[in-house]
Amino acid sequence: MTSGLRYLPAHLDPAAQRDFVELLRAAVTEAPFFTPIMPRTGRPFTVRMTNLGPLGWVSDRAGYRYQSTHPETGKPWPPIPPMVLDLWRKLSGYPQDPEACLVNYYRQGAKMGLHRDEDEEDFTAPVLSISLGDTAIFRIGGKERGGKTETLKLSSGDVLVMGGESRLCYHGIDRVLTGTSTLLKDGGRINLTLRRVTRPGATE
Ligand code: SIN
Ligand code: FE2
Repeated sequence: MTSGLRYLPAHLDPAAQRDFVELLRAAVTEAPFFTPIMPRTGRPFTVRMTNLGPLGWVSDRAGYRYQSTHPETGKPWPPIPPMVLDLWRKLSGYPQDPEACLVNYYRQGAKMGLHRDEDEEDFTAPVLSISLGDTAIFRIGGKERGGKTETLKLSSGDVLVMGGESRLCYHGIDRVLTGTSTLLKDGGRINLTLRRVTRPGATE
């Protein structure tokens, strides 16, 4: 496995997974899912997104960036719930809290092309990913596009810590296996990624 990548299968038990979904349900009424747009092509992503925390990741014709408000409502993103922060504090090995929790919602047919998470200022912090709902085929390669890749099945409750070398590796979701979980009432998959965006000291 890519160095620095920690895979923690079934880290969240079913009760914790249900708690996470409840928290998300409340957050999403405040910050509804939106459809991001690819900056260059103007094509919509197949994944819908929203964010929690002081900063949220957005993509539109103007580019990829972090911003403090929801692109459609104009309101600040809801806070990252304490239960989610606890997981970061336990697993990230990073002294400061994350500033962004990107929530990706994969409905039938949604996927995510290979990309690197590189809009952050501090790559010493890992990206912590939490999977809920249907199982996904996650693909990860090296730091350059076009290299060798491997796949990992991410099921509900699985946690992945992308730190060290793996922090800047290309990764994406090939597909989601419909009907593999009953956690989400309407099916599909939700992935949370916790990110530190700014370098500590830059804003604190
Ligand atoms: C992402 O790379 O932003 C999402 C990965 C995932 O859905 O597991
Ligand atoms: Fe990513």
